[in-house]
Amino acid sequence: MNRFWHETISRLTPYTPGEQPKNSPQLKLNTNENPFGPSPKVIEAIQQNLNDNLRLYPDPESEKLKTAIANYYNLPEPSVFVGNGSDEVLAFIFRAFFQDKKLLFPDITYSFYPVYCNLYGIDYALIPLEDNFEIKLEKYQPNEGAVIFPNPNAPTGIPLELKIIKNFLGKNKNTIVVIDEAYVDFGTQSAIGLIEEFDNLIVTQSFSKSRSLAGLRVGCAFSQPELIEAICRVKNSFNSYPLDRLAQSAAIAAIEDEGYFKKTTQAVIGARSFLEKELKNLHFNVLPSGANFIFTSHISYHAKHIFDQLKSHGILVRYFNQPAKIDNFLRITIGSMNQMQQLIKVLKQIVL
Ligand SMILES: Cc1ncc(COP(=O)(O)O)c(C=O)c1O
Repeated sequence: MNRFWHETISRLTPYTPGEQPKNSPQLKLNTNENPFGPSPKVIEAIQQNLNDNLRLYPDPESEKLKTAIANYYNLPEPSVFVGNGSDEVLAFIFRAFFQDKKLLFPDITYSFYPVYCNLYGIDYALIPLEDNFEIKLEKYQPNEGAVIFPNPNAPTGIPLELKIIKNFLGKNKNTIVVIDEAYVDFGTQSAIGLIEEFDNLIVTQSFSKSRSLAGLRVGCAFSQPELIEAICRVKNSFNSYPLDRLAQSAAIAAIEDEGYFKKTTQAVIGARSFLEKELKNLHFNVLPSGANFIFTSHISYHAKHIFDQLKSHGILVRYFNQPAKIDNFLRITIGSMNQMQQLIKVLKQIVL
């Protein structure tokens, strides 16, 4: 520890993102990126905005983007917040609402949550998943604290039904509930429609996965205007301009190209069904997925062995060597049908 470091900084364990290799592997299936490029309209929008105006600051409130998102979801604009990836949106939410509360989240979930808690000094408790890796909301007793979970959960991919979420919100009206819907567009039911009814609900979403914009960093949150106002206050106390001109224009084009979005998300869902079936034929256990990835373990071969073997064949998937409950699992991003066929071909050599 350097003598100028604050002790809270030396105690931090920052989040480690999935490997972004310098030499691109033959198949990159480790960070849940979309196998298809962004909509051609996105590229057009970026090209149109590559001009002298880049010398000017962008709209600090991203008004046009918020209006486009609000129109898409049929919400009033003050119910929408946008930020630099949903990671940043979550960072603001943790700061705005969780600091003086006990926060509950699943023991196996997005590993950024404990990182934010440690950064901000937020008290938290982990609620164990069921033996089948499902989240059971009945186990959460927030007592006016706060709850966050992804739907579908990550890295398991298991979706939770909307009626269960609605029931939980109704029973815990004094608890802030944040639902992280980074992967919702791949077949999970969104809770955005519950925002009008519940003033304790915040939903976050990402443009990184289903809209194929991980490289531009765009995320959003939905809630009743008073909670959105609190998130804006935090944002404007960090950085007035989190979204640059290119990201704002590209995200508008992405949300407006519904046809491309539907076509590509359906293609990913189709490739997921194919992969699930093929993995089962190769004696993998596959958890049900409502996401663009599959969480799986083999009945005889250890996940680390399969991970290393795949890597030596130029295929990168995600292996988590902790916690112990998931150290025999691999998380595999769904690629195109062709990529999934390549993967299965190599897996056949490893596990048979
Ligand atoms: C559950 C979950 N939430 C949020 C994010 C953050 O996504 P982004 O910051 O790219 O919008 C991720 C990224 O992998 C994730 O897995």
